[in-house]
Amino acid sequence: KPQLLIDTDPGVDDALAILMAYAHADIAGLTIAAGNVGLGHTVRNARTLVDLVGAATPVFAGCAAPLVRAADEDAAFVHGQDGFGDIGFPEPAAALATEPAALALLRLTRERPGELNLVALGPLTNLALALRLDPTLPARVKRLVVMGGAVTGHGNTGKVPAEFNVGFDPEAAHVVFEAFPAFDLVDWEATLRHAFDDAEFDGWLATGDRRATFFGKIAATARRYNAQHDRHGLVAADALAMAVALDPTIVIRSETRAVAVELDGGLTRGATVVDWKGRLGRPARANIVLEVDQARFAAMVRHALGVPT
Ligand code: BDR
Ligand code: CA
Repeated sequence: KPQLLIDTDPGVDDALAILMAYAHADIAGLTIAAGNVGLGHTVRNARTLVDLVGAATPVFAGCAAPLVRAADEDAAFVHGQDGFGDIGFPEPAAALATEPAALALLRLTRERPGELNLVALGPLTNLALALRLDPTLPARVKRLVVMGGAVTGHGNTGKVPAEFNVGFDPEAAHVVFEAFPAFDLVDWEATLRHAFDDAEFDGWLATGDRRATFFGKIAATARRYNAQHDRHGLVAADALAMAVALDPTIVIRSETRAVAVELDGGLTRGATVVDWKGRLGRPARANIVLEVDQARFAAMVRHALGVPT
């Protein structure tokens, strides 16, 4: 089984990704970032998920704001004010660890060098902070998979070419992209190419177990928003990144390129700039995932929701 360390800002698609991780892997810890909604909500949502699956995974609270500049926007208009569709879940029982997320990332990778796959599903603030504290972190990580970026400029934020996770904290993404010698990048546009058919997904929700019921509830607001905004089918960016983290052989097509983050542009701050033609002479570190085996991706999601085979 893969061993994972998940940095996340739950968030509806984060929740699906985490359910996939519980179904297919061991999770050493959940480190939590602000992003989709504020840190208080994202921490609480992570604990709600730990309760749902009956796990004892430690949850570590991370940075409440980006490294340098305040974020322009959150994603409450998609995920709900509380990030989980405003269902009004009770206060979770799962404990919150006292150690800050960046320190937990460093400690856990020191305890298990070379064993943990790091999966980043939110703004990269915690990871960047950990790297500033200890630049040797990448050498202890087995693999890094990042959900982030919009590699051909069709972003999903007010700064048009920027994707949300990179746009929320561009400096953090810059630090991470420069620090890791190699990583997998699952971008927003790949996500749109790997949406699930709505009717098919509804069938899974109807036949799955309590995880499916839970996900159906929290996803309703986001699904409505997407349907009204020309995003067809069930779009789950973080779930796609998790599929790639859980099973790299699911990738059918990818290209390794240098990726940089625009930190200044008035219209483009937070854009991921891909050097497709290798003009800049920078090291090509990002393996940009372009296509995965959709049937295997679907099977992983069904298993995570308890849909009978
Ligand atoms: C990313 O932003 C968030 O809204 C999602 O959870 C995902 O991580 C997509 O751009
Ligand atoms: Ca996320």
